Amino acid sequence: MTFLITAGPTREAIDPVRYISNRSSGKMGYAIAKAALDAGHKVTLISGPVNLAPPRNTKFISVLTSDEMFDAVHRHADTSDICVLCAAVADYKPAQVSPVKIKKCADGISLELIPTRDILQSLGERGDRKFLLVGFAAETDHLEANATEKLRRKNCDIIVANDVRVGMETDQNELVILFRDGEMKRISRAPKQFLACELVKIFLKFATKRFDKKDVMITERT
Ligand code: C5P
Repeated sequence: MTFLITAGPTREAIDPVRYISNRSSGKMGYAIAKAALDAGHKVTLISGPVNLAPPRNTKFISVLTSDEMFDAVHRHADTSDICVLCAAVADYKPAQVSPVKIKKCADGISLELIPTRDILQSLGERGDRKFLLVGFAAETDHLEANATEKLRRKNCDIIVANDVRVGMETDQNELVILFRDGEMKRISRAPKQFLACELVKIFLKFATKRFDKKDVMITERT
């Protein structure tokens, strides 16, 4: 199977030297990429700026902004069987990017922020999609309720939820996995590489695909 995986943060420019970003390390996405490769699958890894080397044999696409990630994902989604959108895409970007460095002044300044495009939702809205769509939800509160709402709103097949206080910038995580049909699985605290192997097995099981003669895909669990 072919996996498309997004990982890491995005950077949204304010001016030539400043940007808005977040603390995502990219470790979970890179671990999933490695687990999928180790299991014999093809991987396209679309990554924001992180301090990690891409696993060997990955088709690696480096991006900076949410718009670059959006375009790269849409270019590769239809040739993928499983899209795992693990990146911590910035939710907002400056309405205008200053072409010159904004000067420091005694008064405060205000930045107008506008929403970025939601990549996961844009794939979920596509009625013609043939790939399994997996989103992530990093939450600080009401983990299951927020993740369930996200699963419905973004029309994913699976949402993998974690508490940011456990998983952000660390090598360990604990996960709640929510499925479209309301089923739920928990994986207790473990190294991200172990969790990634478990996730890849779960995604593959869920995505067992059957093509009939008309090339229509039926996604079902085995
Ligand atoms: O809404 P929230 O950012 O919490 O949703 C998280 C999920 O949505 C993750 O899978 C993330 O990769 C994806 N996402 C996205 N594009 C955005 C924001 C989030 O693909 N602009």
